[in-house]
Amino acid sequence: HAEDGSQLWLRYTRVPANEAALRTVACRVNDPVAYMAVEELQHYWRRGDVTLVIDKSWSGQQTGGYAIQSRRNKTVISAGSSAGLLYGAYHLLRLQQLQTDIQGLNIVEKPSYALRMLNHWDNLDGTVERGYAGHSLWKWSELPQKISPRYREYARANASVGINAVVLNNVNAAPLILRSDYLGKVKALADIFRPYGIKVFLSINFSSPKLLGQLRDSDPFNPEVVKWWEKKAAEIYGLIPDFGGFLVKANSEGQPGPQDYGRTHAEGANMLASALKPFRGLVMWRAFVYNPSAEDRAKQAYQEFVPLDGKFSDNVIVQIKNGPIDFQPREPFNPLFGAMPKTNQMVEFQITQEYLGFSNHLVYLAPLFKETLDAQTYTRPLHATVAGITQHGPYPQLSAIAGVANIGADRNWCGHHFAQANWYAFGRLAWNAALSSSSIAKEWLSATFSPDPDLVDPLSDLMIASREAAVNYMMPLGLHHLFAFEHHYGPEPWGDMPGGRPDWMPWYYHNADSIAVGFDRTSSGSNAVAQYHSPLREQFANIATCPESYLLWFHRVPWTYRMKNGRSLWDNLCYSYQQGVDQVRHFQQVWDSVEGKIDAQRFKGVQSKLKVQARDAVWWRDACLLYFQTFAKMPLPADLERPV
Ligand code: GCU
Repeated sequence: HAEDGSQLWLRYTRVPANEAALRTVACRVNDPVAYMAVEELQHYWRRGDVTLVIDKSWSGQQTGGYAIQSRRNKTVISAGSSAGLLYGAYHLLRLQQLQTDIQGLNIVEKPSYALRMLNHWDNLDGTVERGYAGHSLWKWSELPQKISPRYREYARANASVGINAVVLNNVNAAPLILRSDYLGKVKALADIFRPYGIKVFLSINFSSPKLLGQLRDSDPFNPEVVKWWEKKAAEIYGLIPDFGGFLVKANSEGQPGPQDYGRTHAEGANMLASALKPFRGLVMWRAFVYNPSAEDRAKQAYQEFVPLDGKFSDNVIVQIKNGPIDFQPREPFNPLFGAMPKTNQMVEFQITQEYLGFSNHLVYLAPLFKETLDAQTYTRPLHATVAGITQHGPYPQLSAIAGVANIGADRNWCGHHFAQANWYAFGRLAWNAALSSSSIAKEWLSATFSPDPDLVDPLSDLMIASREAAVNYMMPLGLHHLFAFEHHYGPEPWGDMPGGRPDWMPWYYHNADSIAVGFDRTSSGSNAVAQYHSPLREQFANIATCPESYLLWFHRVPWTYRMKNGRSLWDNLCYSYQQGVDQVRHFQQVWDSVEGKIDAQRFKGVQSKLKVQARDAVWWRDACLLYFQTFAKMPLPADLERPV
């Protein structure tokens, strides 16, 4: 078997028939999901008898939960649902993979979020927006007749980490997805995913009634429009009785929406929500909205959505990107979290590395995800971290979390072998937001490569450091959006387009001149700090207390400003970029040191990607420093490596 990474972390070895006959896997529940749990254990579990039982005392959001207990001579998995049994089965297989002792097990697991979703940005023509792992997995032209075996493998990988909901298509949604023939294709996928406990959702185009249904408009107050959506919902649920609902990007980056008709986001969302309500469907309404205006882009979502608090139906969840701009290597958390106490809110992370070196750079994202989830909003006395806000909203049974998928048709699914870790980590954190980045990294490494500590220890350290390294060589100290226009791969801090939207230009964000650099978001500038709750507001507003990692996010700072370490801002910037380069070079050495501990194919694959990353880190450092030097007019520190 070629070690091409296609098996992901699911490297279980099949139990031979004679061995399998020596132990039993007993389960009286009779449905496709429970059957899947039994089948996985039948095929791969080699450590004695297992019994799977449903225990109705699990309820609500916790139905996916399970317990695993060692009883005399067998292991018992009990759960509130068949999905819980399946997750329990994968938990056992994980313990086996990690070579954990299974004597005296007493494990209780409850999911942090009821819905643990992937958002695919896949287009119907097979391309993937911001996808770096080849074309879409979904072969729309072959469906529903031809079923790729990868659909099943994909569902299994999701289930193994607890992901239970997927949005199939791009948020920039083609109306066509709702045409009957496409719904037939969607049904085929839903049928494959169902035994893995996965529900299908779709992104919809708000103008579908007009564009697909030939109505005069798509005004949510037009009774014809309302009727159109009701009929569409009935058609979908006729095909897919457990259909999840709609994800909507409206009045955002040119997409249509209720504001086209003078209606609010809430009015648009509620119209869809009531069409789905009879079928228990949900609406995920995105808060990623901003317009070219005099107002700071970072403030706009808050300004539009906070006044709508309490106006959304109870089957609507407002889906909010982790930061207020756009999936930058580092952003403070989005101040909308906690600012709409009567509204269900969920986080949207980006697993695909749009702003993090695509599938070329090794950047482990769990630390980024955790930074947002663990961020304290101070908006209420209890459960006030972003994780707490999104888990304990007004309707906790609807709690949800989403990640924009990094999965494509590449043999190894994610382009970079280590990008698989980001899919894995998203799933694990969606299941248990309290897990540590490092424990997830260790689990993933053990399952994907080997549990050998000589491999797991150095590589998990490398993974943990990788996000900070990327921040250092791309945008340290709170800099943001210095990316090349449109594709967002390399640096282009000088980028400009006469007549182009200012909020898409790097200078809008860095504001460099001969005196200073950074975005003044204090009261002397855009005052975005005021959207944060005290004491954060004051902490961010004061240059002396603002964390240096957010310095140029919130402040416009003179090049000569003294940093905490005594260096000038300019010198510090230079050393930060250099540090990023040094870190990647160190990753190369660490990687080289594990040669022989893993298969040659994946070893070489990662080794060559690290070469690209090291080249790019130098490129970022030189491009940004030489550009900013034209403003700062200060020399590079004498001991700094010279630009190439
Ligand atoms: C980013 C990304 C777009 C995407 C958008 C969104 O701006 O570059 O490709 O459509 O986010 O999340 O809607």
